[in-house]
Amino acid sequence: MTNELEKYIDRVLYSEDDIKAMVQKVAARINEDYAGRKPLLVALLKGAVIFSADLMRALIIDCEIDFMKVSSYSGTQSTGVINIINDLGCDIAGRNVIIVEDIIDTGLTLYKLKELLESRHPASLKICTLLDKPSGRKADVYADYIGGTVGKEFIVGYGLDYDEKFRNLPYIGVMRNS
Ligand code: IMP
Ligand code: MG
Repeated sequence: MTNELEKYIDRVLYSEDDIKAMVQKVAARINEDYAGRKPLLVALLKGAVIFSADLMRALIIDCEIDFMKVSSYSGTQSTGVINIINDLGCDIAGRNVIIVEDIIDTGLTLYKLKELLESRHPASLKICTLLDKPSGRKADVYADYIGGTVGKEFIVGYGLDYDEKFRNLPYIGVMRNS
């Protein structure tokens, strides 16, 4: 580790090669499951930008991508409200939609987002996440495609941030003191 940013990283959890393998693994399953169906990837800003770009390049089927930016308030946890900051630019009715997320922690964001997108009548709706953090779960939400599972530690890099920093690291690392 040479970069100035890397003083804040305790250890590398997934190297660039590990991430490539996770992306290929997930893409292989999507290629198989969606052959002939032109899925629409709905990538969540900002965290999933890098993963979704790599995932899309690993897909050999016809597909499209759009982006959405949401935030969730969990003042009252079970009834967390979703706030749409940037909505999709297309109609998803009748489409085979795959939400692409960087990491699922409490699951509150995705729980609410799934509800919202379901109300727009897609033909199907699935979730693909690079990482899953099952120990943090507060809402009943599961991903259909998972690159890897992590523990309670706070991780950064490859799109994941701490206070908007570290998204540019090419690997995934654990923050010091997390
Ligand atoms: P939740 O599942 O509604 O709690 O929200 C998940 C979001 O929280 C992710 O999309 C990330 O933006 C953020 N997040 C959760 N855990 C981490 C982490 O370990 N590092 C960086 N961001 C995280
Ligand atoms: Mg995020």
